[in-house]
Amino acid sequence: MTVTEKLNGREVYDAIGQPKTIVAPMVDQSELAWRVLSRRYGADLCYTPMFHARLFANEEKYRNSMWSSMDGDKEKDRPLVVQFCANDPEMLLKAAKLVEDRCDAIDLNLGCPQGIAKKGKYGAFLMEDWDLIYKLINILHENLKIPVTAKIRIYEDKEKSLEYAKMVLKAGAQFLTVHGRTRDMKGQATGLANWKVIKYLRDELPKDQVFFANGNILYPEDLERCTAETTCDAVMSAEGNLYNPGVFWTKDNDKDKQFARVDKMLREYFEIVKSCDGVASRHAMKAHFFKLLHAFLNVHKELRPVIGKTSVNSDFSEWEKIVVEVEGIVEKIYQQDNIEEIDVIEVGGVEKWGGSYKTVPYWRCQPYFRTVDGEKQNTRSLKVAGESELIEASSSVSTSEKHKISEPLEEIETNKRVKA
Ligand SMILES: Cc1cc2nc3c(=O)[nH]c(=O)nc-3n(C[C@H](O)[C@H](O)[C@H](O)COP(=O)(O)O)c2cc1C
Repeated sequence: MTVTEKLNGREVYDAIGQPKTIVAPMVDQSELAWRVLSRRYGADLCYTPMFHARLFANEEKYRNSMWSSMDGDKEKDRPLVVQFCANDPEMLLKAAKLVEDRCDAIDLNLGCPQGIAKKGKYGAFLMEDWDLIYKLINILHENLKIPVTAKIRIYEDKEKSLEYAKMVLKAGAQFLTVHGRTRDMKGQATGLANWKVIKYLRDELPKDQVFFANGNILYPEDLERCTAETTCDAVMSAEGNLYNPGVFWTKDNDKDKQFARVDKMLREYFEIVKSCDGVASRHAMKAHFFKLLHAFLNVHKELRPVIGKTSVNSDFSEWEKIVVEVEGIVEKIYQQDNIEEIDVIEVGGVEKWGGSYKTVPYWRCQPYFRTVDGEKQNTRSLKVAGESELIEASSSVSTSEKHKISEPLEEIETNKRVKA
């Protein structure tokens, strides 16, 4: 197939149903089981975790640990974009060829800001080598039946970001995702993604460019706000989705979908894991348990070490015990006489960043607020990518005793592997 016979980005976007909500690529976290769950809660399109192209192409053991016979299944796992990190065009092509019949596009990781990416020269550290980025994208564009896509971070300078985006598109990328943070914005310095820069890129690039925005999604309403402010085709979420798959539920305001009870969500997720082939879904389970339960574990601390010491290779019966315990605790909460009074979601005032924080009962899935020097990030000034002014975030998240706002779990309790 030649490039001219390939569907262009817009045609592919239409062919996969014009997705509006996207599960971001997340190392060890956007694996098959999680994608199945997220699709049930409104995700229209999913990205795989980043796979290492060289290992995927050359090492069967690695490949089998990342990719099973069910991944990319037409009925269960589509539409799907498979993401690779790479710095060798031939190797990237070799890896991509192995999955091109089992996904809708291949994405090149240009966003990983971690030390391991610096050492291996991939992810966001390719931002210093535009020639190589061009070659990596172009070889896929020229040789695959399906489109190549790219997810970029921005530079401090928006003009440079635009030149960068243009180069990526010229190389052949057909969907562009813009994560509105710079490479330095990670960990404690994560700060706010800059939707204005995303909108600027959107306006300056060709109108028919398939364009996705990424960053700052905490609640379902933020998806609509982001779409309106950036005029993107679709919105991608990583952390928002990870802590609450209901973040993509926009059909109605059903709180059992948007902020599902943790016992119900955990059970649903666990049953999906059991039905999935391969080891990736199983390996990701511990981190997902911690994240889905993060607010709940803040109150029921006794469960933390139980999850902590349960091995990802433990028999499912060990994990079942944890699920049953959570179900028992939440069932008791719902037997309280005043449950209708306390099972409510409070909406705060509009914040300077444009959205509103919500106070959600700890027995329901809810977003995670990053801590900076031990303080919730939303209680202090926030750096916005590419802007010198800080946003003074008010501390209007209610600390109502009724709901006991959760302290986020330490990273150590979730997973220590690389975040891209
Ligand atoms: C646990 C985790 C793993 C991630 N892994 C990847 C990855 O494999 N590839 C990638 O391009 N970005 C990765 N990211 C970045 C996200 O895709 C996303 O760009 C970033 O988190 C910003 O989106 P958010 O504000 O919705 O979290 C990861 C993020 C998290 C939280």
